[in-house]
Amino acid sequence: MKAIINNALLRYIDVGSPSSVPVIFIHGFPFSHRMWNFPGGQVEALGATNRVVAFDLRGHGESEVGTGHYSIELFVDDLFALMDHLHIPSAVICGLSMGGYVALRAAERNPERVRGLVLCDTRSEADSNEAKVKRANSIKFVKANGMKFYAQDYVKIVFAPAAFEKHPDTVKMVQSIVERTAPIAIFGTLLALAGRTDTTAALPSFTFPTLILVGEKDTITPVAASQAMKDKIPNAAMHVIPGAGHMSNMENPAVFNKHLTEFLATIK
Ligand code: MLT
Repeated sequence: MKAIINNALLRYIDVGSPSSVPVIFIHGFPFSHRMWNFPGGQVEALGATNRVVAFDLRGHGESEVGTGHYSIELFVDDLFALMDHLHIPSAVICGLSMGGYVALRAAERNPERVRGLVLCDTRSEADSNEAKVKRANSIKFVKANGMKFYAQDYVKIVFAPAAFEKHPDTVKMVQSIVERTAPIAIFGTLLALAGRTDTTAALPSFTFPTLILVGEKDTITPVAASQAMKDKIPNAAMHVIPGAGHMSNMENPAVFNKHLTEFLATIK
């Protein structure tokens, strides 16, 4: 489905059992809701037990690109506007990497809208200077070489090496999502990522149930970044997903879904 949400045409899916606990999935950079919606994926796994919403952030997937002037704050505005549009006062928010940054900031800003939080392969700290310089270099790279080469390189960073043998179709799907992202959205999102706030100080105030999942071989947001969040969030649970890189939900969906469904069963 598509609807005008916060003045942008956003693509979303709203499936599963309508009267049960809603779970909203937020994808990483620069992916789309399809990273949750694949055979054996999270949308399928939760369809019978939860209301499942997954959407494309503006500039991504099939959502409107607009001006490319983005911020994590704007993505949080979009999330809350989507929840209003769907008449969902509060939900379990599940975000991977950039989706986790959006979820963390949403939880800091409006905790009453969060029934539970699932933080996958993400971190609460803002970008270091080194990370900001990397973002600037990525913009230069895309300008010089285009999206095809960017996507080819990007999948090598986000997937653990074994994924290329074990899940070639998954890697191909993600590569094509990245490749089809508009350069203007890539530039705008990289600047948004570089400019995001640090949400670490808010973690001790999180009183809703929180689950942290991270791929054992994630090199972008490593296990240590998840452990640092777990140490600060009261009663957070954390699991390391064996064999998975940064795309833990796609690289080892069986283990990921097991932890996710067990966590959601505790939320009424
Ligand atoms: C993502 O997967 O969303 C990105 O790796 C996040 C980032 O670059 O910080």
